[in-house]
Formats: sequence, structure tokens, C-alpha cells
Amino acid sequence: METKDLDYLVGKVAGLILEASKVVVFTGAGHSTESGIPDFRSPGGIWSRFDPDDFTIQKFMSSRETRKMQWQMLVEGGLLKNAEPNQAHYAVAELEKLGKLGCVITQNIDNLHQKAGNSPERVFELHGNMKRVRCMSCDACFPMEDILHRLRKEEIPDCQFCNGILKPDAVFFGEALPQKTLSDATHHSRNCDLFIVIGSSLVVYPAAYMPMYAKEAGAKLVIINLSPTPMDSQATVLIAAKAGEAMAKIMERVRSQVSA
Ligand code: APR
Repeated sequence: METKDLDYLVGKVAGLILEASKVVVFTGAGHSTESGIPDFRSPGGIWSRFDPDDFTIQKFMSSRETRKMQWQMLVEGGLLKNAEPNQAHYAVAELEKLGKLGCVITQNIDNLHQKAGNSPERVFELHGNMKRVRCMSCDACFPMEDILHRLRKEEIPDCQFCNGILKPDAVFFGEALPQKTLSDATHHSRNCDLFIVIGSSLVVYPAAYMPMYAKEAGAKLVIINLSPTPMDSQATVLIAAKAGEAMAKIMERVRSQVSA
């Protein structure tokens, strides 16, 4: 994207943020690629290396063998690496500090919004969080680090309390999304005046309904994404640039106008 075009669009988004009373930020895997976590559908992304059909809850529960393969994908796929927030995360955390952020709705399971400083109660994780592992029998929860340590010894970890099956606290295909999180996210999407999508292909539902709910409720829509999405034609502002660069420039512009 031409720098002059980017600067012009950055100014428009900064203006929308300044006049908004409640901003909802919606993030996808593209928001974390600059933290070294691969996304799913870009060239070289996770679904170009692994088959999504292998990662259903049915397959995970069906046998130790499929569980071993899925744990291997999570480790090799790069979804469990101890990543750091990038500029885009810090920009979204700054939005909260400025009192502009209603909430963050994220499809990501990497905990990076919280790590960057967003209040956990303002982060709605539609697809769960990879920092925890849950027992499918007794519901006990364990930190992922403890389980990774056991995984390295080539064993598939079972619950140390009841020997039940342990599953990462992320939503697998075929699994229901956390209902309260989904209804809270839907409520916020329907009650904001600016909805900013960052780093999502907007092809997975029900998450991808959120920007639609916001538009239906009269909110302005901003999309910051490197490739086209099905909602592009409905965007008030569309920025095809890297999330970190765009969001850092946007918040720089907002800060300069707030302090002026
Ligand atoms: N800046 C801006 N956009 C980026 C960047 C970046 N640095 N890196 C990648 N992108 C864009 C890609 O062009 C792509 O359109 O981010 C988008 C990421 O799309 P997906 O890989 O489909 O990720 P996401 O939309 O989060 O997928 C939704 O699908 O497989 C499931 O559960 C998984 O939560 C995931 C869901």
C-alpha cells in the first residue's frame, strides 16, 4: 500500500476512533503473525501444512493415536510457542487506556491481548485459550506449560486426578463455542458505534457474524487486513496493510489529537 494512501486512511480511522463513544476490536490470527504465530489461511499458514478435518473434537476424543497427532500439530504448528505481543496488541491495549474500548472480541487463543495489557474481563475469546488444558471428565484445569513438559517425554497427558482425557481449552472444529462468551460478544457487537476488524479472513462462523451484527446496528466498520474479506464492500475504511504498522500509526494519530 502506498504510504500516502496509508497515511490518509490512518487519519480517517483515527478520526472515527476520536468521535466514537464505544469501539469494539475484533481480531483474528493475522493480528498475531507479527508475533511469530502463523495464521491459518495465508500461504504457508497452518491449514496449508495440516488438514483441518483432522482437528475435530470427534477425532480428538476417538483415539489416543489421533490425540497424539493433534498434540503434535499444536506443538509443530507453532500455536503453543511462548510469543510476545506486537505493536498491534499494544495499540489495542492503549485504546482501552484511553477509555475508548468497549471490548476485544478475538478468535485467537494466544492470550496476547491480555499479555499486552487489555483487562481480561474486556477480552472475549470466542475460540478459547491455549494457556490452559481442561480434563474432559472432571473439568480440572492445568497450565499448558505443565502439560508441555510431560508431552516432551513423548506421553499423551491424562488427568492426574481422574485419568480423564486432557484437551487444550481451545474450541476444536465440531465443538460448541463458549455460550456466555458468544452472547456477550454478540451484545457488544450490537452495541458499539465503531467496529474494527484486524487480521481475520472473516470466513469462520459464528465469529464472522460479529461485524455483521455491528453493521446492522448502525456501527461504522473498519477492516485492517492484508487480503480481501467478504465484508470489504461494507467497510467505512479498508486498510490492506500490516496490523502492527497500521495500528501503531493510528494510535500515534489519536494520541496527537487527544493531547492537542
Ligand atoms: N497484518 C494484517 N493482516 C494479516 C497479517 C498482518 N500482519 N498477517 C495475516 N493477515 C491476514 C491474512 O491475509 C488473512 O486474511 O489475516 C487473515 C488471517 O485469516 P485466517 O488465517 O483465516 O485466520 P482467522 O480469520 O483468525 O481464522 C478464523 O479459523 O481455523 C479457524 O479457529 C481458527 O480462529 C481461527 C478461525
